[in-house]
Amino acid sequence: MFKSEVYVKRRASLHKLMKSGIGLFIGNVEAPMNYPANAYHFRQDSNFLYFFGLDIPGFAAIMDFDTGKDRIFGDDFSLDDIIWMGPQPTVKELASTCGITDTAPMSKLEDFVRDALSKKRKVHFLPPYRGETKMTLGALLKENPCQMKTLASTDLIKAVVELRSVKEQVEIEEIEKALTVTYNMHVTAMKMCKPGVREQEIFGTIEGIAYAGGAGPAFPVILSINGQTLHNHNHNNILRKGRMMVTDAGAESLLHYSSDITRTTPVGGRFSQKQKEIYEIVLKANTESIKASKPGMSNRDLHLNACRIIAAGLKELGLMKGDTEEAVKAGAHTLFMPHGLGHMMGLDVHDMEALGENYVGYDEKIKRSDQFGLAFLRFALPHKPGYVFTIEPGCYFIPELIDKWKAERKHKEFIPYNKLESWKEFGGIRIEDDILITDKGHKLLGKPVPKTVAEIESQCS
Ligand code: GLY
Ligand code: MN
Repeated sequence: MFKSEVYVKRRASLHKLMKSGIGLFIGNVEAPMNYPANAYHFRQDSNFLYFFGLDIPGFAAIMDFDTGKDRIFGDDFSLDDIIWMGPQPTVKELASTCGITDTAPMSKLEDFVRDALSKKRKVHFLPPYRGETKMTLGALLKENPCQMKTLASTDLIKAVVELRSVKEQVEIEEIEKALTVTYNMHVTAMKMCKPGVREQEIFGTIEGIAYAGGAGPAFPVILSINGQTLHNHNHNNILRKGRMMVTDAGAESLLHYSSDITRTTPVGGRFSQKQKEIYEIVLKANTESIKASKPGMSNRDLHLNACRIIAAGLKELGLMKGDTEEAVKAGAHTLFMPHGLGHMMGLDVHDMEALGENYVGYDEKIKRSDQFGLAFLRFALPHKPGYVFTIEPGCYFIPELIDKWKAERKHKEFIPYNKLESWKEFGGIRIEDDILITDKGHKLLGKPVPKTVAEIESQCS
């Protein structure tokens, strides 16, 4: 945990933003894998971690926005628990670590909420994403658990997004720690990227590094020689020469801050000419986007600029045609880069996504596009100091998408479909880094992971 002052300050800021009512925060409980006592690795709710820091299942908290008081609800461990788990701190001791003195057993939470509802006080809560939390909220609020997402408090969502979007120095240090582990994951994957190796061996090895150095992976590792599938969680392939391995992987720090890096490595450690040509285009989109990041820069413009770089590069290779500006406006480039440039990152790898992407990456003025490709941009707002986000352009040859568009003659003025037939075996390339917006510009976070063609080839040798 951070020092208690960190949590006290965060809650004071939330009290200031919220006018009245009660904030109800339900921490996560254990999630069984196949029977109740055999649970998945515990992951606390990120909002609960942010305001209370307690990384233990079965806790809840309330913040009274009228009185400014906070209370932790939880049950002391029983002797039975201690026999299985070892000595544990009391709820009072735990609460004091986040600067709260007022505690109560879990059974009192129902009374508290009933009393608040009877006085017609507004109970604010954040959108739940786990079944157990929906059930708990439904029971406490006497509402249909399936309605909990729509009944969540917009005021509370907006206040939490405002606070969590701007990272504190202690949070940046945690992200850097996560990135140190992620560096080791990636250079290990590069070294292992040899013909005959099964993807699963590399996947298992680097997930192990995430657990050895931090709190585990920030998301299930994406690792495949079929990198044209954006989030490929199948690891059954045997690496073979001529393919590239896309590794999109990041560790969590021990305090659960994320990292998210993608590298693309040629199997056997040497890029072919064809691979190099596409790699250099994606690399340019990555480095130019990082270079242009600074306070005030619109992330939607940054995304579109990266798309123009990809489209212009493909045009030079004869894989796109016509006016690049018009092609990007029409969305023709999305055949090759159907996703957004990046996303906010913090306690969640897609930071605060559970609160609603449109609250995090968009606002009243900047609305999400419904155009294919641009619609997947998770974060479009202008950059502000303290924002941490990913820059992850890519270029993919997705046979099914090529075939569909070709049959529809979609954007045929910009795409020479006859040239693409020989590229259907190419796979995909993505290059992702994590950056912080500073007062004047940006900072690349973490020890730089080999990225240029020369650096990757040298790492593989
Ligand atoms: N690292 C996976 C993603 O950004 O979606
Ligand atoms: Mn990412």
